[in-house]
Amino acid sequence: MRHMKLGLFLAPGGHHMAAWRHPDAYPAGFSIDSYVSAAQTAERGCFDMLFVADVFSLTASGDRQDSFRFEPLTLLSALAMTTKSIGLAATATTSFNEPYNVARKFASLDHLSKGRAGWNIVTSSSTLEAYNFGREAHRDHAARYKKAHEFVQVVRGLWNSWDDDAVIIDKENGVFFDAAKMRMLNHEGVEFSVRGPLTIPRCPQGHPVLVQAGSSEDGKTLAAEFAEIIFTIQRDLASAQAFYADIKSRVAAFGRAPEHALVMPGVMPIVAATRQEARDKYEQLQALIHPVAGLTGLSRTLETDLSGVDVDGPLPPIEVSKLSQSRAVGMVETARRENLTVRQVYERLLVSKGHRQLIGSPSDVADSLQEWFEQGGADGYNIMPSVMPGGLVDFIDLVVPELQRRGLFRKAYAGAMLRDHLGLPRPAPGFIS
Ligand SMILES: Cc1cc2nc3c(=O)[nH]c(=O)nc-3n(C[C@H](O)[C@H](O)[C@H](O)COP(=O)(O)O)c2cc1C
Repeated sequence: MRHMKLGLFLAPGGHHMAAWRHPDAYPAGFSIDSYVSAAQTAERGCFDMLFVADVFSLTASGDRQDSFRFEPLTLLSALAMTTKSIGLAATATTSFNEPYNVARKFASLDHLSKGRAGWNIVTSSSTLEAYNFGREAHRDHAARYKKAHEFVQVVRGLWNSWDDDAVIIDKENGVFFDAAKMRMLNHEGVEFSVRGPLTIPRCPQGHPVLVQAGSSEDGKTLAAEFAEIIFTIQRDLASAQAFYADIKSRVAAFGRAPEHALVMPGVMPIVAATRQEARDKYEQLQALIHPVAGLTGLSRTLETDLSGVDVDGPLPPIEVSKLSQSRAVGMVETARRENLTVRQVYERLLVSKGHRQLIGSPSDVADSLQEWFEQGGADGYNIMPSVMPGGLVDFIDLVVPELQRRGLFRKAYAGAMLRDHLGLPRPAPGFIS
């Protein structure tokens, strides 16, 4: 029986744009306690993994709930010690890191967590990030992805530095490791020159799991070549099916098994015992959206200054070809197609960062998750609780048992590592596809 994959997209206050203003949000403020409790709740629900995003900048407008964030690898190391089974994935950008550092950190996390690490490969889109790394501007989209390609190759090469049995610790004969089981990388490329080997023995998983979320042509190509999990943002079944079929055929074209690239669209569920209660929860959150926050959020996403526009009028002209994120292009296209006002754009689309919202009873939500899963739209979901911790607890207590009853989701972890949960093979030593 094919099981759905479930990941928690962990944002401290929740994913709804106004979540942090909810009376129940941030019970512990900016502290490790909220993260530990969320990770343990997701593990109670047998989730495959949790994921923390990362950006190296913030917008100083004061209305942001996700302005502050822990450095992800430090955070996941702490969560590795307070959980046992759940996979731990984080973003690291290929634009403002060195591959050696990234390879080493994720290999470390894989050892610390006994095989539960995952790396979300991003190229970063904000110019504000470039300002923190001695640059006036970010590289253009194509150049970023070209660099990302070489970056990932170097990281994987470094993860292949050692055979599984290279560390022998033979005290009698004085041999700590077997140098014949070590591989120098000797990479000389366009962007990087990296000799190797990595100063960490081979990871429990062989390689940490690779995740990617780009949906441009270059993004999809990178995902198809390397990614084992693909995060995506479709909002309707037809476009989810089209994306799913497209990405799986691209994966096959790289000689990879399509079932080893798992497509996980993001979903923001708002669930309660009854449909009406769920609707009320949604309305309570919607009422917390501050119009200024709506406008600044939309300005940021659409890379256009919208201050002073009439929120009850149509979206002003925006050149979609200049937008750096396909998520933003999708928002503008939906707004035009459905004749949405500026207020409707941020109230309907921006609230969940462009992701699908599922509002209803446990069986409503389970029906929809099941439909996409069985009809070629998804292998699983990146669950984005609207408000934390309540939105996560509702999903775990109300939807997970329903999915389990339907035989769509595990009742207990069968294996120890993230690759076991996801049904992904362990790369062989020396493997490069
Ligand atoms: C679920 C999800 C998580 C993401 N996490 C991050 C992140 O942590 N940092 C980041 O810079 N971009 C993040 N992104 C953005 C993507 O990496 C990518 O830049 C974006 O989807 C645009 O890709 P494209 O240029 O290929 O269209 C995320 C996207 C999605 C859908």
